[in-house]
Amino acid sequence: MSQTARYYEPAPESIDTEAFRQVVLSRRSVRRFTTDPIPQAVLDDCLDMALLAPNSSNLQPWDFYIIRTPETRKALVDFCMNQNAASTAAELIVVVARIDSWREHARMNLEQFPIQPIPKMVQQYYRFLVPFVYNQGPLDSLGRFRRSVAGVSSRLRSVPRGPCSTEEMRLWATKSTALAAENLMLALRAHGYDSCPMEGFDERRVGRLLKLDDHALPIMVIGAGKRADDGVYYPRIRFARERFVHTL
Ligand SMILES: Cc1cc2nc3c(=O)[nH]c(=O)nc-3n(C[C@H](O)[C@H](O)[C@H](O)COP(=O)(O)O)c2cc1C
Repeated sequence: MSQTARYYEPAPESIDTEAFRQVVLSRRSVRRFTTDPIPQAVLDDCLDMALLAPNSSNLQPWDFYIIRTPETRKALVDFCMNQNAASTAAELIVVVARIDSWREHARMNLEQFPIQPIPKMVQQYYRFLVPFVYNQGPLDSLGRFRRSVAGVSSRLRSVPRGPCSTEEMRLWATKSTALAAENLMLALRAHGYDSCPMEGFDERRVGRLLKLDDHALPIMVIGAGKRADDGVYYPRIRFARERFVHTL
């Protein structure tokens, strides 16, 4: 009988909570940047940290477009309604959620799985469950079929309800991609740089600019750079914890 050794990754013992708090507290949406560039090594490190975000089924449904070409940048700033956060940014990054990369990424998860032999459960997950759950079929026919099956079996037990349509796939990909965007912004702050997430842009024009098809959804444009002295417009407002946190 073969027995696979159990993988063991202990939590690090000392994390500098105060340093983390400083990063979180000092991250503000910065609307004006200086002309200082972000060194490529810093940007690469921040992007690497973005890519470590938790994500659904480890299918990593995201893309990051760094916009540097002057004409493309000019058009993007225009499509961001010429917001200062875009026009003054040292870097403009379009964060894109993808609903079509899951199949290839499922295969890559198996190809690059770090333990051999690949546990049966993992093989089954990526070979069968992932295609079953994420393939919506022509005109969402498979999604609709799954929804009706879930509707029946949910009378007896808890069942996953989605994603059961292309629209729900967009939400599915957006959740994970937004987490990666947050990692990116926190990483920039940890390196002494700042950012502004923007959804105030013309999604369709940005999609066309990047030659994206219907399977790729630009969810945010992130302006990044060194904070100008007048880069933050107002002190931060957050409502009381009790308004949002519900202990049941
Ligand atoms: C999804 C999303 C979209 C946003 N869009 C814009 C935007 O288009 N323009 C802008 O100036 N700020 C934008 N913001 C920044 C918010 O206004 C800002 O996060 C909020 O006011 C809280 O301020 P803080 O980030 O400094 O804590 C956006 C933030 C998020 C998360």
